[in-house]
Amino acid sequence: MNALLDADSRKRIDREVAKYPAEQKQSAVMAALAIAQQQVGWTSPEVIDAVANYLSMPPIAVHEVASFYNMYDKKPTGAFKIGICTCLPCALRDGAKAGEYLKEKLGIGYGETTADGRFTLVETECLGSCGDSPVCMVNNTRMESFLDNGRIDALITELSTHADAKSGGAR
Ligand code: FES
Repeated sequence: MNALLDADSRKRIDREVAKYPAEQKQSAVMAALAIAQQQVGWTSPEVIDAVANYLSMPPIAVHEVASFYNMYDKKPTGAFKIGICTCLPCALRDGAKAGEYLKEKLGIGYGETTADGRFTLVETECLGSCGDSPVCMVNNTRMESFLDNGRIDALITELSTHADAKSGGAR
């Protein structure tokens, strides 16, 4: 039993663990962190400990994974985390411009959350979709491409009026 992880998370993690040999269940650590983050909202120290406990790993080993990849949130985010890619290939194709427009539109800087708790804006590393630049990822799962101002306006309008923020961006 794990006090923090709920039954659904444990079931989902068990499914990931089953993909590996029994003695290598730590191979499911990335998936387990993603699942736990979806449940809790961010990769809190308690999430690190819970995943470590569940996979019989030292907490520091789980922390090393969580701190390396930017899809794991080290602090609470808004209901919708928008990660805009500003790496060089995207920057050469208006990625930085799209980021500036998002900042202006949301009234926040990178790493910040709107006062109503709805949006967090972050820069991301390459999302593997350079040809579709500018691109962003909503809640680590939903890719949006060719982000000119009109598409950004439509995205923010959609997310602003979404009835269920937690499911709308597939957290
Ligand atoms: Fe932005 Fe690759 S550099 S998706």
